[in-house]
Amino acid sequence: MLRRLLLYLSEAGWMRTLMARFWLARRVARRFVAGETLDEALAVTRTLNGRGLPVSLDYLGESVQRAEDTRSVVAMYRRLVACIRQEALQASISLKLTHLGLDIGEELCVDNLRAILTDAQQMGVPVTIDMESSHYTDATLRIYRAMRDEHGFANVGTVIQAALKRSRDDMRQLAAEGARIRLCKGAYLEPASVAYIDRADVDAHFVQIMEDFLPQTPPAHLEIATHDENMIAAALRLVEQHTVAAGHYEFQMLYGIRSARQTELAAAGHTMRVYVPFGETWYPYFMRRLAERPANLWFFIQALFRG
Ligand code: FDA
Repeated sequence: MLRRLLLYLSEAGWMRTLMARFWLARRVARRFVAGETLDEALAVTRTLNGRGLPVSLDYLGESVQRAEDTRSVVAMYRRLVACIRQEALQASISLKLTHLGLDIGEELCVDNLRAILTDAQQMGVPVTIDMESSHYTDATLRIYRAMRDEHGFANVGTVIQAALKRSRDDMRQLAAEGARIRLCKGAYLEPASVAYIDRADVDAHFVQIMEDFLPQTPPAHLEIATHDENMIAAALRLVEQHTVAAGHYEFQMLYGIRSARQTELAAAGHTMRVYVPFGETWYPYFMRRLAERPANLWFFIQALFRG
């Protein structure tokens, strides 16, 4: 119930406005967000790289409703890609299609995405298209495949959510295509008609998908995006059992969550990438993090009272 309430609030405009004005909320959100500026995100990237952790930088934002607002998003991503190249940072980028205007029109979104992918490809920076709610799954996969196959971008990957019932079939197809896929559980409020609601079912599906994807030849590339020790253990078992080469899988976690485990996995010789969000539009991202773990809500309330 609490998770569903928090996910509902993550999309509520009135709550977003209220929280953005609330400097204490902003301070608490810093646990999960690198900062509001590019400089802050780059500083966090340098620190994580120094600890042997590559990153994926996400300029926060989604559900943009005016075409002119997408221009600054594209400009920020292009600056980001240039900085990554200039400083030779170990960094990819992650982006959301509704941040690039998918709600306004697919053509606008595709043009914006192509501009970013062109720069990123030239600078050798990988790009991952995040997966938003199930309303966008078909469009996201269609645009991802068009970028890869019709426009010839070799640097693009996308995300699949184990919570969605369709995902095992999607992943079998994507594996056959040699895709680079980030597998996560799924962070959105979804109806039972399309998604598993019981967490045990989501976990079982996550493992089944890895069992299909990791052993296949020729190998594709799986990014195992989870903080769940059971999922990590299952992945490690499959990697060993099928002698999956280092370049064909990696672990990924979110900034601010299980940092010690991140360092441990990297020290054990696995690629461990940290997803580092930054930007002023941190509210929906922050609320999804609260929804994942009710204990975070308690931490948030305590911090508010402490001032
Ligand atoms: P689960 O939620 O079961 O958590 C397992 C354990 O991890 C918890 O017991 C706790 O110890 C720790 N943990 C998890 N979340 C925590 C939190 N917020 N605070 C503190 N501890 C926490 N989703 C999506 O729908 N589309 C996307 O594109 C992406 N992209 C993405 C990229 C990367 C790199 C990651 C790691 C995750 C995503 N996600 C995502 C989010 C994902 O779907 C999921 O909501 C979270 O990763 C939480 O799920 P876990 O697999 O960690 O398991």
